[in-house]
Amino acid sequence: MKTTNERGRKGSAIDRGRADLSTAVPFRCRDADGPRPSGQGGQTRKWHRRARLLAMSGVDIGRRTDQGWSAMRDNNMADLFRGLTAGVYVIGVAQGEFRNAFTASSVMLVSFRPLLVAISVNPTHASYPILDGGGVFTINVLKAEQLNAAEHFGTQSGRTVDKLSATPWRAGRTGAPLLIDALAHIECQVVMDIEAGDHRLVVGRVVDGAVLAADASPLLYASTGDLDQSAELYAKEFCQLK
Ligand SMILES: Cc1cc2nc3c(=O)[nH]c(=O)nc-3n(C[C@H](O)[C@H](O)[C@H](O)COP(=O)(O)O)c2cc1C
Repeated sequence: MKTTNERGRKGSAIDRGRADLSTAVPFRCRDADGPRPSGQGGQTRKWHRRARLLAMSGVDIGRRTDQGWSAMRDNNMADLFRGLTAGVYVIGVAQGEFRNAFTASSVMLVSFRPLLVAISVNPTHASYPILDGGGVFTINVLKAEQLNAAEHFGTQSGRTVDKLSATPWRAGRTGAPLLIDALAHIECQVVMDIEAGDHRLVVGRVVDGAVLAADASPLLYASTGDLDQSAELYAKEFCQLK
């Protein structure tokens, strides 16, 4: 089992008030088209506008150095995306008697009528074939103190461990697992499943849900450090706008 990466939060990019509007610039990728020449009208203005917006939001997006446009500092892109204030959830899946669950932070409300939510799922996870075959999933909202549950469901695979055997749960209306100790849960029926880069975007119609602990605070993705070991997955530079 992987252990928690104890990487500190030194130099967190999400440090309000630290961004310097005069020097903060977007960083660029040196892709096949070569480096972007400086001062190119509309595109450059768009980059600067975007830089200013990001800087105003408190995100440190990189600085100009003697070497030219800089990439962001260490723990850069990972911190940037952790700033998208996501919660941490355990997604339950079921296909008949086959069940599994995994930790996810990529969860969002998509539509009110009908009530739709989306999750982003790596199709190589043990959970995906069950999700695909069963067509249902649950979203279990974790409490701030449930980092251990995030680790339990998010750092080991159902291929090697029966993760649900160690956690109190019950089958919901859809048959997918609902964690008894969660802050809240939502049950969904899959209505769309599309390829989205190296993940799949799965949209579910909400068929049931309940708040179980109204006074509890939710666990935030930003509080999980690099538990998901995603820091190494980000590219070093953004790709160029076309
Ligand atoms: C904090 C955290 C957030 C995660 N977010 C996602 C996510 O949004 N989507 C995803 O596919 N995997 C995500 N993962 C990774 C899966 O939870 C992890 O790979 C899990 O072991 C897959 O389990 P499975 O193989 O049993 O399905 C996350 C992991 C952690 C620790």
